[in-house]
Amino acid sequence: MRIGIVGAGRIGGNAGKLFARAGHEVMFSFSREPEKLQALADETGGSAGTPAEAGGFGEVVLLSVPWRLVDDALAQAGSLEGKVVIDTTNQFGSGGWEDLGDQTAAQLNAGRMPGAGYVKSFNTLTSGFQAEAAGRSGDERVVLFLCGDDADAKAKVAGLIEDAGFVPVDVGGTADAAVMEAPRREGAVYGEEYRQPEARAVVEALRAGRPIPPAPSY
Ligand SMILES: NC(=O)c1ccc[n+]([C@@H]2O[C@H](COP(=O)([O-])OP(=O)(O)OC[C@H]3O[C@@H](n4cnc5c(N)ncnc54)[C@H](OP(=O)(O)O)[C@@H]3O)[C@@H](O)[C@H]2O)c1
Repeated sequence: MRIGIVGAGRIGGNAGKLFARAGHEVMFSFSREPEKLQALADETGGSAGTPAEAGGFGEVVLLSVPWRLVDDALAQAGSLEGKVVIDTTNQFGSGGWEDLGDQTAAQLNAGRMPGAGYVKSFNTLTSGFQAEAAGRSGDERVVLFLCGDDADAKAKVAGLIEDAGFVPVDVGGTADAAVMEAPRREGAVYGEEYRQPEARAVVEALRAGRPIPPAPSY
């Protein structure tokens, strides 16, 4: 699959490497230092381009930029209508975590890219942990949660999460995203390692309207 990366830093760069390792074609974009993008391209056998080029190239586009730059990055990428977009962003500004009121960050961002098949994922675990834990096998395989309102887009992203070496677990629509959004806190999966059985228990609790079980420790 062709995947355009907009924001090729810790999360986007790592995800791009994992996708490339699984055999996907990856284009890296959005950096103040284009040579970093070229280094990633050289390392992965992918390519480097502008956000507009990455947006045009990818059947799937992974958006992984600092929160304050989401509008700027999307403006540079151009219309993402018809694309599947994986949003890894978390709502941290210069003053720390931003309270978005009743709206989830996923709802806000999905509204910023009309016509895209929006999926939020790759956002709950640190980049270092994602790099280290990708590809674990058996019972130790780590979960990446996802959510979104487009079932086809979620199925595609779930496949990519598996290709990257994780177990996909769907928490629901963008309205259900708060449980996988910042900040780290009791009652949320954000910032916590989950494996499949405990992640499934979270989803069951959410569906039943019960508080989720305490975060596991392994
Ligand atoms: N780091 C984590 O552990 C983590 C975990 C989960 C989710 N997230 C979320 O994922 C998103 C990306 O985080 P990250 O840690 O990967 O960020 P990062 O390492 O700072 O990378 C951000 C990307 O945006 C580019 N960029 C930054 N400022 C720019 C500017 N002014 N103009 C053009 N390009 C610019 C960076 O390129 P250059 O720096 O090369 O210019 C880089 O390609 C954030 O929303 C974050 O909240 C992060």
